[in-house]
Amino acid sequence: MFISKFSQLGARVVKHLTREPSVSVLRSPYLYAVRHRNLQSLMHERFFSTADKGEEEGCKENQKISVTFVGDGGEETTIKVPVGMSMLEAAHENDIELEGACEGSLACSTCHVIVMDMEYYNKLEDPTDEENDMLDLAFGLTETSRLGCQVIASPELDGLRLALPAATRNFAVDGYKPKPH
Ligand code: FES
Repeated sequence: MFISKFSQLGARVVKHLTREPSVSVLRSPYLYAVRHRNLQSLMHERFFSTADKGEEEGCKENQKISVTFVGDGGEETTIKVPVGMSMLEAAHENDIELEGACEGSLACSTCHVIVMDMEYYNKLEDPTDEENDMLDLAFGLTETSRLGCQVIASPELDGLRLALPAATRNFAVDGYKPKPH
């Protein structure tokens, strides 16, 4: 009698320990994963991968590149420019004499800069038609000329060198009026 009760109890314990997950558990991917995978690695994947991603984004946002402005007389000023900032804004923040009469609205050519290395020039986005129109009016145009307000800092531009032209043409001051196209 005692032995029979004992073996019944043992059988119930074994059944409980070896039973398959219930349907509701199987239907929930998360609970299924918790049951069948190492809980620690799951937690790591869920929480740390999100943290890494955020850190990566943060790094990108905080990233700065080195840009050197070379003045008319050859004097060089190297500054750190945050990724995403235009060369015009960067110059103004660092007291570098680069005009920007229209404040970046592509209505002047006073922010004209010359990219000193072709290698860097080729890394830039192609100028838009509006930028080309304004560049045509720039004083001392070269084949690597760009408008400073349209050159945006990006990681591959680290080490960029920009020459400041000897003069700029300011329509408002010079009285020059561009002909409509
Ligand atoms: Fe006028 Fe760049 S500031 S076009």
